[in-house]
Amino acid sequence: MISKTSVFLLLISIPFFALFFPCHCDCDVRSVKDGNGVRGMFVFGSSLVDNGNNNFLKNSLAKADYLPYGIDFPSGPSGRFTNGENVIDLLTEQLKLPSLIPPFSHPATKGNKIIHGVNFASGASGILDDTGLIVGNITSLNQQIKNFEEVTLAQLEKEMKCKGKDLVANYLFVVGSGGNDYSFNYFLKRSNRSSASLQAFTSNLTLSLSQQLKKLYNLGARKFVLMSINPLGCSPVMLAFQPERHGCIQGLNQAAELFNTQLRLLISSIKMEMPGSNLVMVNSYKIIRDIIQNPQSKGFKDASSPCCEVVPRSQGGDGILCKKGGQVCGYRNAHVFFDGLHPTEAVNVEIATKAFASYRATEVYPINVHQLAKL
Ligand SMILES: *[C@@H]1O[C@H](CO)[C@@H](O)[C@H](O)[C@H]1NC(C)=O
Ligand SMILES: *[C@@H]1O[C@H](CO)[C@@H](O)[C@H](O)[C@H]1NC(C)=O
Ligand SMILES: *[C@@H]1O[C@H](CO)[C@@H](O)[C@H](O)[C@H]1NC(C)=O
Repeated sequence: MISKTSVFLLLISIPFFALFFPCHCDCDVRSVKDGNGVRGMFVFGSSLVDNGNNNFLKNSLAKADYLPYGIDFPSGPSGRFTNGENVIDLLTEQLKLPSLIPPFSHPATKGNKIIHGVNFASGASGILDDTGLIVGNITSLNQQIKNFEEVTLAQLEKEMKCKGKDLVANYLFVVGSGGNDYSFNYFLKRSNRSSASLQAFTSNLTLSLSQQLKKLYNLGARKFVLMSINPLGCSPVMLAFQPERHGCIQGLNQAAELFNTQLRLLISSIKMEMPGSNLVMVNSYKIIRDIIQNPQSKGFKDASSPCCEVVPRSQGGDGILCKKGGQVCGYRNAHVFFDGLHPTEAVNVEIATKAFASYRATEVYPINVHQLAKL
């Protein structure tokens, strides 16, 4: 007969044993409350979210590792395509994660440096494999996901001493891609295509993206943050194609809007195919468009010209990147665009703040990043 005392001892010894012999077979990371509920962030996408991966690419023209890029970033130029912090850095701070997310390609990104996530993004890349090849070497979204699967996930399992789907369930998976598929692919190759093929191209893009999201889901991702495409037709590089300025270039903006509408629909439809997942769309398009339509309301003065000196296409430049060591505007917060394409840190602050905390479904849908993190 088992005495009451031995039952009692058995009961109190279970937590005792659990304390000294932690189970390595399942990953007890759900209890972690570092970043408002998430442990960290894995980031995929283009230059809007790249934080230095392209620095390490051979034969890439899409680099931002020189001044005036990073002029307002604490450590100077880092490969971020803006004057200071990008949306990812600012989201990291909103979430109160202990440090910024390191770039995958940096040799120091290993060991315990990866436990709060890794950034795989590559400037000029797109959702499709052939997007951005025009600027030379890029890391496509498919390759970024492969790097996560084959390198980082394996390292993380070792670092956390556990395996299994739960390991990354409590990380945010941020995907910011698609703009380059239009600017550096569709509109470049197909300058004379009908709107019917724009529809077909957009369907192809969202289909590819949905397959990429499912791949991440199958690797354990559960919390997704998807960035919309920005108003491409309002960027200085595109405005330069239209010497008599009559506002933004509608064709490009319509393409971005079409994609963003499809992205919003995808969020609801894909959730059913990925049980237990939650997806949030950050409508940076609307947030930037609102600023451009009424710059003064947010303290901006210039919504159409780059803050840094850009070599125009008419003079053999790309119209996008800042000239190395070139001129730069004094009051960066007054500009919407830092170079010919990328927003200033001041705009990134608007995007990240709204992504994190807005309750407007037109800005972040269907819930905000703070709510997603706490789920
Ligand atoms: C791209 O860069 C990587 C990393 O430096 C290098 O291994 C690869 O050969 C490069 N590819 C091309 C096509 O230049
Ligand atoms: C564009 O398409 C139209 C209609 O198919 C055609 O008539 C026109 O020649 C094309 N323009 C160019 C520059 O290819
Ligand atoms: C869509 O993808 C299919 C299959 O990859 C391809 O054959 C087709 O040309 C694509 N359509 C467009 C408009 O890019």
